[in-house]
Amino acid sequence: MNTVITDDPQIAAGFVRAGGIVAFPTETVYGLGADLFDPAAVRKVFEAKGRPADNPLIVHIENPGQLAEVVLEVPPHAGRFVERFFPGPLTLVLKRSSRVPDAVTAGLDTVGVRMPSHELARKFLAACGSPMVAPSANLSGRPSPTTWQAVLEDLDGRIECILKGERTAIGLESTVVDCTGERPVLLRKGAVSLETLREVVPDTLERTPGSDDLAKSPGLRHRHYSPKAGVVIGEGVSGAGPGAAFIGLRRPGEGFELVKVCSSVGEYARELFEFFRECDRRGIEMIVCGPVPETGIGAALMDRLRRAAEPVSG
Ligand code: TXA
Ligand code: MG
Repeated sequence: MNTVITDDPQIAAGFVRAGGIVAFPTETVYGLGADLFDPAAVRKVFEAKGRPADNPLIVHIENPGQLAEVVLEVPPHAGRFVERFFPGPLTLVLKRSSRVPDAVTAGLDTVGVRMPSHELARKFLAACGSPMVAPSANLSGRPSPTTWQAVLEDLDGRIECILKGERTAIGLESTVVDCTGERPVLLRKGAVSLETLREVVPDTLERTPGSDDLAKSPGLRHRHYSPKAGVVIGEGVSGAGPGAAFIGLRRPGEGFELVKVCSSVGEYARELFEFFRECDRRGIEMIVCGPVPETGIGAALMDRLRRAAEPVSG
């Protein structure tokens, strides 16, 4: 298949209406979109990514009115999150409507919903006319794409179209909050921090390791955010040499083949996944990543670094 690259949301939406799958930019990372109500297109999303069928997709809406097409109810605490954070980098897990195809939710009775704020994403979603499923537009297991070139690198010839935009502003995937219980539970850290969530719903819980969260957030079972190189969290005073790279806020010791010093935690978050990909292109074997304070986006960044640093398993 020839993958068409365009910056016109109308052309991109045409491929969706014809049953195709289309990558598009959002404020977090690029997504791989298909019409929620087209089960054949939804299956193509899993195939193109090589995504395990037990990892559910999140649904993207263009306006809050579309929530009613997707979920059974919006409980009061979820309503407060919608008011404050839609549109934005927050995904809410809610009880799903029976109209949502089973393949989307991997058989769960819940569905993740997000309303992006990115202008081109909004134009694209409006042109498509119905809610869209969209996982990150990478091959399963690789770092999420923050540029259209990274999408092309993974999915050229596997998808109908790429809607080309700028490098994504946040660079890490959305915050995911489970709103199906009495108290909201933070399942995946993102640009909307736990502190900020608690400003709106003070009794929001953090995911507790060892609880039933694997059942609640199936994506956490799967290997994520991984470059081919080994990842180590540290200040980079040792470990330098050919085949080694460093990214962080402070200049490391001498001898790294590739070094990126970021001027803020926000820039570090924005650059991380592209840096991982650049390391892969150069055949880097070890990446040393400087730690950051775990507040705001720093908590999400440390979460991604720890996942990338995990040894490969299952
Ligand atoms: O920022 C983002 O969220 C990007 C952009 C494209 O919107 N999308 C994204 O999708 O990161 P994906 O599929 O790569 O990650 C969605 C995460 C996965 O970990 C998945 O397991 C989890 O959300 N998830 C989806 N539906 C869920 C549900 N019903 N219950 C619990 N977790 C769910
Ligand atoms: Mg993903």
